[in-house]
Amino acid sequence: MLVLGIETSCDETSAAVFNDGTLISNIVYSQSEHRRYGGVVPELASRAHIRRIVPVVDEAISEAGVSLSDIELIGATVGPGLVGSLLVGLTFAKTLCFALDIPFVGVNHIEAHIFSSLVYEDVSTPALALVVSGGHTELHFIPEFGVYRLLGKTRDDAAGECLDKTSKFLGLGYPGGPVVDRIAKEGDPDRFSFPRAMLESGDLDFSFSGIKTSVIEFFTSCGEDFVRSNLPDILAGIQEAVVDSLVEKLKQAYKIYPVSDIIVVGGVAANSRLREKLARFSEAEGVRMHIPPVSLCTDNAAMVARLAIFLFERNGSSPLSLSAVPRLDLAQKGD
Ligand SMILES: Nc1ncnc2c1ncn2[C@@H]1O[C@H](COP(=O)(O)OP(=O)(O)OP(=O)(O)O)[C@@H](O)[C@H]1O
Ligand SMILES: [Mg+2]
Repeated sequence: MLVLGIETSCDETSAAVFNDGTLISNIVYSQSEHRRYGGVVPELASRAHIRRIVPVVDEAISEAGVSLSDIELIGATVGPGLVGSLLVGLTFAKTLCFALDIPFVGVNHIEAHIFSSLVYEDVSTPALALVVSGGHTELHFIPEFGVYRLLGKTRDDAAGECLDKTSKFLGLGYPGGPVVDRIAKEGDPDRFSFPRAMLESGDLDFSFSGIKTSVIEFFTSCGEDFVRSNLPDILAGIQEAVVDSLVEKLKQAYKIYPVSDIIVVGGVAANSRLREKLARFSEAEGVRMHIPPVSLCTDNAAMVARLAIFLFERNGSSPLSLSAVPRLDLAQKGD
């Protein structure tokens, strides 16, 4: 079965093609329009999606060596995300399905991130999933795919948002995660210490806004020149605080749910220090750690197509009346 996935929830326009369960193309256009603003400007994002959606879908189809009329199913992101951005991909996908008379499947973006771990490998359930992205930091217990129990989530900023805001504050550009990752490689993570919040909270929630506040205080007390000349050590310290908070909560969840498989997905899963510490955890505990390749950590349509295949096999198609849902939870605590 030839399946086309379309993703436009935020600032990536992406299209991917699967052939009988194998990914054969995945085109991601990352919008550069937002860099000068230090964050995503929703109106610019939807306009950029409108400009890019046709060339991106065309490229995915041609790289796959197929033609549009061969496509048998299309999946697109319904939410969560920016409403204008979501509407571009969703309307495009539904219109194509109507014109080609093929089924359509709407998908949840966070569940799609979880399914990025299934693009190249199998994952056994029950499993734990840590979703760490620009807008979400969530821990889920997954008794089987399609069923998600929210164990904990951030009470304020997401991990990626914390790195993005820190980077913006220090004038290092957007998105901040990759910049921090690159510069921190040259630094000493133990020279400056930043807070690891809520490790003793007795639940599996996270908090990252304290790191941002302490960076601002540090900057004010040490001065700009000191920060500039010690940037690698400072960023390594900030990154270490974020990574330690994530790994520590994951370890706490693993104590309660000693599963064989753990999934770590979302843009922050691209972080080299996090990957290093997760590899150590996996080795120490003998647990299988599923982290997608870096190209599938940030937003992409491969994960959307992979989830659409699963949902279509399980539930059939979605109605073409399905509309964008900007705020869409995967699961509420206690579900
Ligand atoms: N190497 C890296 N290290 C740390 N963070 C990273 C790295 N690469 C990307 N990120 C972060 O990942 C985030 C983007 O991830 P993603 O595309 O999954 O988020 P989003 O789609 O904007 O949000 P959501 O998925 O929650 O709706 C940004 O915050 C970015 O800074
Ligand atoms: Mg995302």
